[in-house]
Amino acid sequence: MVKVNKNYLKLPGSYLFSTIGKKVREYSQAHPDAHIIRLGIGDVTQPLAPAVITALHGAVDEMGKAESFRGYAPDLGYDFLRKVISDKDYKARGCDISPDEIFVSDGAKCDCGNIQEIFGAENTIAVCDPVYPVYVDSNVMAGRTGEYDAESGKFHNVIYLPCTAENDFAPEMPEEVPDLIYLCFPNNPTGAVITKDRLQKWVDYANDHGSVILYDAAYEAYISEEGIPHSIYECEGAKTCAIEFRSFSKTAGFTGLRLGFTVVPFDLSVEGVSLHTLWARRHGTKYNGAPYIVQRAGAAVYSAEGRQQVLKQVAYYMENATVIKDGLLKAGYEASGGVNAPYIWLRTPGSMTSWEFFDYLLSEANVVGTPGSGFGPHGEHYFRLTAFGTRESTIEAMERIRKL
Ligand code: MLT
Repeated sequence: MVKVNKNYLKLPGSYLFSTIGKKVREYSQAHPDAHIIRLGIGDVTQPLAPAVITALHGAVDEMGKAESFRGYAPDLGYDFLRKVISDKDYKARGCDISPDEIFVSDGAKCDCGNIQEIFGAENTIAVCDPVYPVYVDSNVMAGRTGEYDAESGKFHNVIYLPCTAENDFAPEMPEEVPDLIYLCFPNNPTGAVITKDRLQKWVDYANDHGSVILYDAAYEAYISEEGIPHSIYECEGAKTCAIEFRSFSKTAGFTGLRLGFTVVPFDLSVEGVSLHTLWARRHGTKYNGAPYIVQRAGAAVYSAEGRQQVLKQVAYYMENATVIKDGLLKAGYEASGGVNAPYIWLRTPGSMTSWEFFDYLLSEANVVGTPGSGFGPHGEHYFRLTAFGTRESTIEAMERIRKL
């Protein structure tokens, strides 16, 4: 008799952004004339940079000629891309990460979800609360989290690290030592950042206790202030305790094109086993690599003109962030983030829950955001707006919120 993976049945409801999508679809069907502005999921709206488009066209032409056609990509990704990532994202910032420690993939979400496979089922995990749901859900599917407690909104075997206004939305070290620690900075959903000193403390903690940090740096391109680390490898000792995930989605608008990479340093071993070897084994067995044309497009992001063009896009979104944050503060909301991250985290008015505010904003202003409670219990009474809309829709959304 076939059995299903019963761990899936422990997941409460559907994936957060699918739930939101469904609610918005139902609302639009019932109100076909409503002009809905979507500031919910962090999906980009600006077209790909011209340098990226040129690279895509060039690579497509190469694929059409026998002498330059490419089949399967190398397991870890093409050398031309891994080399430029190593030079520009790491060596230029003083981090000694070699091309062979970089695994190219089709995005950080898959890698963040899949990485738990190389760790034993008995490991404990710690996550920020609120948190990007993929970290918890992928561990639930793997049977690592125990049962869900609907009353607290928590899984029994997960260590939740509260991120609140009191600690500037940066977690404190837990008393119970976790095996795997998920950190994401600049943070999704709160838009908070961590200072280098504070991140160094996490690295020291992980090295002292034999934990591994899974560091999601997908929003690194949005850091605007000095003294904020762009990579965990800026901290001393991180190569023996941390894996880092990066994405081209938010950096260069690749949400639809798909490209990302994961760094697993050679120095990182657990129980005498190299995690690089395990991830290489997993990658080689279950993945055939990001398409050649997309890797060429990714390399174009690092060219002089490509870099300038994507920086302009990041600046565009960050101006939206300012429009949103200033608008909210002027309208009397408590709001944070939006300075080094494309997310603004606001407190819901009065005693409204996050979902009540979601419904209120959708019905009264036709604006969609993301309820904070969907990211974890400490997200309750908070709400996330993204800066990834167009300028016009962002201004219009803030005008509507102001009128409320
Ligand atoms: C978000 O809105 O949190 C992100 O777009 C989700 C993702 O990157 O997968």
